[in-house]
Amino acid sequence: MIDPSTIERIIDTAEITDVVQDFITLKKRGVNFIGLCPFHNEKTPSFTVSPAKGIFKCFGCGKGGNSVNFVMEHEHISWVEALKFLAKKYGIEIVEKELSSEEKEKQDDRESMMVLSGFAAKYFAGCLHNHEEGLAIGMGYLRERGFLRTIIDKFQVGYSPSARDAFTREALKNGFKTEYLEKTGLSINRGDKLSDRFDGRIIFPIHSLSGKVLAFGARTLKQDKNIAKYLNSPESDIYHKSRVLYGLYFAKRAIVENDKCYLVEGYTDVLSMHQAGIENVVASSGTALTSDQIRLIKRFTPNITVLYDGDQAGLNASLRGIDLILEEGMNVKILNFPEGEDPDSWSKKTNSETFVRYIQENELDFVLFKTRLLSEEAKNDPVRKAGMIGDIMRSVARIPDRITRMVYIRECAAILNVEENILFSESDDIRRKEAEKRNRYKYDDRQGFKTSKIAAQPPVKNNFTPERNNHEREIIRLLINYGAKELFPPQDENSGNPVTVSEFILNELDGDELILSNPAYILIIGEFKNLREQNITPSEKVFTNHRDAEISHLAADLLSSSYDISRIWKRKDTHIETEEDKLKELVPSTILAYKSFLVRQELKETEDKLRSAGNEESVLLQQRYMILKHTNMQLARQLGNRIVF
Ligand code: CTP
Ligand code: MN
Repeated sequence: MIDPSTIERIIDTAEITDVVQDFITLKKRGVNFIGLCPFHNEKTPSFTVSPAKGIFKCFGCGKGGNSVNFVMEHEHISWVEALKFLAKKYGIEIVEKELSSEEKEKQDDRESMMVLSGFAAKYFAGCLHNHEEGLAIGMGYLRERGFLRTIIDKFQVGYSPSARDAFTREALKNGFKTEYLEKTGLSINRGDKLSDRFDGRIIFPIHSLSGKVLAFGARTLKQDKNIAKYLNSPESDIYHKSRVLYGLYFAKRAIVENDKCYLVEGYTDVLSMHQAGIENVVASSGTALTSDQIRLIKRFTPNITVLYDGDQAGLNASLRGIDLILEEGMNVKILNFPEGEDPDSWSKKTNSETFVRYIQENELDFVLFKTRLLSEEAKNDPVRKAGMIGDIMRSVARIPDRITRMVYIRECAAILNVEENILFSESDDIRRKEAEKRNRYKYDDRQGFKTSKIAAQPPVKNNFTPERNNHEREIIRLLINYGAKELFPPQDENSGNPVTVSEFILNELDGDELILSNPAYILIIGEFKNLREQNITPSEKVFTNHRDAEISHLAADLLSSSYDISRIWKRKDTHIETEEDKLKELVPSTILAYKSFLVRQELKETEDKLRSAGNEESVLLQQRYMILKHTNMQLARQLGNRIVF
């Protein structure tokens, strides 16, 4: 691994024209340079380099990026190799180095907490493998449970010695500060003494999406019922339980490949399934499932199967969690293991192939599972049966897609032996009430920048069209070019911060639960949110230097299309107006135009549906139609109040 500050140095040093001119000849043209593109055949130069932005872009073949991307593309080598290539060119030494205590101080809080957590994970793993106690007790236990060394290493499982402050002392000795030991919760301040939180426990590090250690789960080895089986790191600046899924870092790829994610209860379930060769598995460990966690999974697949251990209490709790998954419009299946079994125990009885087959044969669609379960419980009790129908329809009513809802209602009606119509009107009632709660428009033109809410519910479908993509591309272009720029002054004078372009855009999208349809754009929005959480001001460099080549290319593309657009604003007058001067109008009207486009699109769809709808549905559709009409008018009025260029 090349450490981040070296990477930054390489990128800062590798001036784009200097790098490119090792391979092709460039000529100056205004503020830019042009040349013949090395990536495709051309006679007139369309290959442009912008030294100011540090990027290249070919308007012929579309390739673009920063100097690292250029080398990657030209030499057909990886990101790391390209960095090494450039380091060599500029005589920059690449070393894996320990930080001096002075450097440590310079890092901000979060960074320090991350570094400490990484250190702790290494320390605990070292204890498991090298210390007498770790080997005898920790390793002994893991072996007995059948965990193999490969899995233990992969998940960086460790052991925290039982001497009360063994870890704390080691950390202090290595220059880590008390402040961060407490903030990460690794140590606890008892009066005047710091002691270890996790002493005498098996340690499961919890990783971020990019593989950094954020927190720990720690299992006791004692049988004593009075001791908590697991202790977990407390909430902190780097660890928000509700937004982290255990194992996701190791599961991402397999989730995408299988287009499916298994959700289990515990750390050991995740490990065992990996050991059995099933890698698309995560655990919500230690908390009830949250919407944020579900959306994390949704980035990779719409399909979840919940594998929970079979006791009644756990079942009821997971039923509630699963409603949240339905609400995200995902497909939920559920697998009920035999009494007393969990994914951990079950996987040890079989191999990967039979396990996967077992799941495929036994997983049940969630709505049908719940219906069967409850109808069994209510059997011949009419009062309970009525309550149960309400319960099931509350789940069904959460499903955003109308057709999916109808299919479910049909099947439930058959299982419950009630009229479909009764179920339809029950679920419509629930949805109508929910809609009333939500459809209060924010309509506040005082400051001229609050755009009105799109009539929520059901969320606009994610159907991709070129026109939609153009709108989204424009939003992303503004984000990348001007994300950190101030758009409006602080909303009220006492509460400090001005509204930046990125805040405005993210809030507008979130406020209407709008998800862009292009996956690359979704990634960029996600990156902006990550930065916001870390309180880092987004800069174009984050994107042009992004390690995901798709993002860095796109960023280069959007940054270079901006120099074309800026020309539009140039006038003959003395003052040259730039796009940046216009952000106050440009950003809100871009968002408004996007929303207005979506609403008009849905209006059209609703009209079509109304034409072929039966009585039942048409009542709902009519309502939706009216709401959309109204919203459309409001949006048009707001757009009209602005000068749209
Ligand atoms: N958990 C917790 N605190 C507890 C008990 C459980 O945070 N006191 C969380 C842990 O994340 C745990 C999960 O809930 O992994 C499931 O609990 P359980 O099934 O009891 O643990 P397992 O992971 O199955 O552990 P083991 O197999 O070692 O019993
Ligand atoms: Mn368990």
